[in-house]
Amino acid sequence: MARKITRYAVVGTGGRVVNFIDPMVTRFEADNELVGICDTNQGRMDFHNKRLAGELKYHAVPTYLARDFDKMIKETKPDVVIVTTVDAFHHQYVIRAMELGCDAVTEKPMTIDAPKCRAIYDAVKRTKRKLRVTFNYRWAPGTTLVKQLLSSGIIGDIIHVDLEYLLNTSHGADYFRRWHREKDKSGGLMVHKSTHHFDLVNWWLDAVPQEVYGYGRLAFYGKENAKKRGIKVKYDRYTGNDTGNDPFALKLDGSGYMLDLYREPEKYDGYQRDRNVFGENITAEDTMSLLVKYRTGVVLNYSLNAYLPREGFGVMFNGTKGRLEYREEHGGHVVEALAQKPQGEEPIYKSHCVVHPLFSKPYEVKIPVAEGGHGGSDPLLAEQIFSKKPPKEKWGRNAGHGQGAASILIGIAANQCFKTGKVINIEKLCPAMGKAKRLSELT
Ligand SMILES: NC(=O)c1ccc[n+]([C@@H]2O[C@H](COP(=O)([O-])OP(=O)(O)OC[C@H]3O[C@@H](n4cnc5c(N)ncnc54)[C@H](O)[C@@H]3O)[C@@H](O)[C@H]2O)c1
Repeated sequence: MARKITRYAVVGTGGRVVNFIDPMVTRFEADNELVGICDTNQGRMDFHNKRLAGELKYHAVPTYLARDFDKMIKETKPDVVIVTTVDAFHHQYVIRAMELGCDAVTEKPMTIDAPKCRAIYDAVKRTKRKLRVTFNYRWAPGTTLVKQLLSSGIIGDIIHVDLEYLLNTSHGADYFRRWHREKDKSGGLMVHKSTHHFDLVNWWLDAVPQEVYGYGRLAFYGKENAKKRGIKVKYDRYTGNDTGNDPFALKLDGSGYMLDLYREPEKYDGYQRDRNVFGENITAEDTMSLLVKYRTGVVLNYSLNAYLPREGFGVMFNGTKGRLEYREEHGGHVVEALAQKPQGEEPIYKSHCVVHPLFSKPYEVKIPVAEGGHGGSDPLLAEQIFSKKPPKEKWGRNAGHGQGAASILIGIAANQCFKTGKVINIEKLCPAMGKAKRLSELT
């Protein structure tokens, strides 16, 4: 009997889509077919078609502008639609794909606000189609190790969690050059970025969040903050301007990728990938602190700052039998022309996982090393999506719309709290999520 080939269409052909298209048409080509791509920008679709026919040794596929999404589904008959657009449009394509008889895979965040989240729940119920949310961070070796250790009961019942996430002035600043800085496009970093972190905590604890309280503000980037610190904002964007030693400058005409995927296609939609991080109309926060109470009683202390000299995170779990500390070091942002001489020895940074049992000596648990994007997580997730026989999954790392919702709703609640100053109840934002205490009870 002939093997069943799964037909895929993709909507949103920017930078991230390579993590789906490339494994689909190379490593997993025998079981899958890319039948069409869709975007608001013809230039970016042409860029990917060139790669498909060239370096990927596949072939160009039909392209459709966003207004012709329905036409694409009708003509190319995909089984599954992969959604990798700007976050604010995920729900539109997820819902429409399901209404037209397809399953859907969406990048995180599932969507950016509560009405859109409820609309996705409603579409899943109406159409009975499946939605996968791609939480690639669950698949990294270190985060999986933490799940294994906590599941073994190594620190007993978890009572409290502390997670500090650090974004540096390179990666963190990049969110303030692009659409991510507009909350109506991304939900702000609380949704766009923290969805990864909230998802990890939900999954590590196997718990559903209940209430959120916090503070958030734009304290570093943006025109007003620049003015307060005496920084002169001389240009709205970096490309085409004399940026001197500006450590935040990003030039799109320098490298091939930035030129072909963003600078050249500007002529179609005016999307600028290199806006000044100290420009106007930034609505996202760069400084956020939250308290999250889970339905199991556990409390999470969370912070995210996006303007730091180095990047990474630390998460500490306090339990009835001890404490587990896990740290990831992702590196700093050193600009040679501005670097000061170190005033002492350079520290050695390394990711590590340490268990502190009550009344015993602490010990380090070795973190396995894996190859591939995002710490080795991207290839493992691609295998789950595209392989006909993916390895059996022991740690519950695949996620559907229920777990997708549990993660974004913390950020959505935080955004509401920043506006109202009130404790936000998550169940009220999306009653359809139900009353489950455990994340594993959700799809
Ligand atoms: N899991 C991860 O680690 C990870 C990493 C990066 C990005 N992402 C996610 O991937 C998605 C894409 O991010 P990116 O970095 O590729 O951004 P990008 O800006 O490079 O690409 C976004 C694409 O969406 C297109 N688009 C915008 N509005 C659209 C609309 N209405 N209809 C159809 N297409 C539209 C744009 O033209 C662009 O081609 C986002 O949801 C982001 O959150 C996830």
